[in-house]
Amino acid sequence: MNLIEDLEWRYACKGMNGRKVPQKIIERILKAISLAPSSLGLQPYKILVVENEELREQIFEKACPQQPIKGSSHLLVFASYTQISEMDLDDYMKLIEIKRNPGDEWCNNYRKRISFFLDKNKNIMESWLTHQTYIALGIACVAAANEKVDSVPIEGFDKEELNAILDLPKQHLSASILLPLGYRDPEKDWMNNQPKIRKEDKDLFEILK
Ligand SMILES: Cc1cc2nc3c(=O)[nH]c(=O)nc-3n(C[C@H](O)[C@H](O)[C@H](O)COP(=O)(O)O)c2cc1C
Repeated sequence: MNLIEDLEWRYACKGMNGRKVPQKIIERILKAISLAPSSLGLQPYKILVVENEELREQIFEKACPQQPIKGSSHLLVFASYTQISEMDLDDYMKLIEIKRNPGDEWCNNYRKRISFFLDKNKNIMESWLTHQTYIALGIACVAAANEKVDSVPIEGFDKEELNAILDLPKQHLSASILLPLGYRDPEKDWMNNQPKIRKEDKDLFEILK
């Protein structure tokens, strides 16, 4: 299938049938997420892959009563770090040195350039960190569709409850968006086979020649 067909096939699935997505497919979706672009390449997030059924039941009961939380095969929780430290930048620089070996001078200059992030005020920093997860989410939706796996981004959940259930603050993480992965259940899903609602191109795009 080509990309446009994949995107036309996918939709925000409202009812899933509990069938398991094969591990190999999950791994390819996760690989695509790991290849998502992020600002400066810092990937300031973690993706929790919740397979455990009791945990998903608990999330459904306390934080997000939407059917795909229970009906999915795997629940991805995109969680952003609530802060970035000197140590995170050092770790990132170590990765660059190992993979690209650009030399001390380049590394020292680049390390100085990216330090400006640490001076941002708390609100701006948190907003920037949260935004990064949405890019990874977009890639995940496309990768899932490419594997004929259904998904639905879910922002409608109780963040405090979910953070507590997954003990995220201990890791300086906070959940920003959820993505259940699984297979559509036409009987439980009123959205199945509904036409897409999209703006007309003329209202969405402006070509500046
Ligand atoms: C950031 C974000 C949050 C969303 N939150 C929810 C949600 O909580 N529950 C839900 O059923 N759909 C949710 N959606 C799905 C949208 O409603 C859906 O993508 C949109 O209506 C377009 O429809 P389509 O994805 O089927 O093409 C969310 C989508 C995005 C991108």
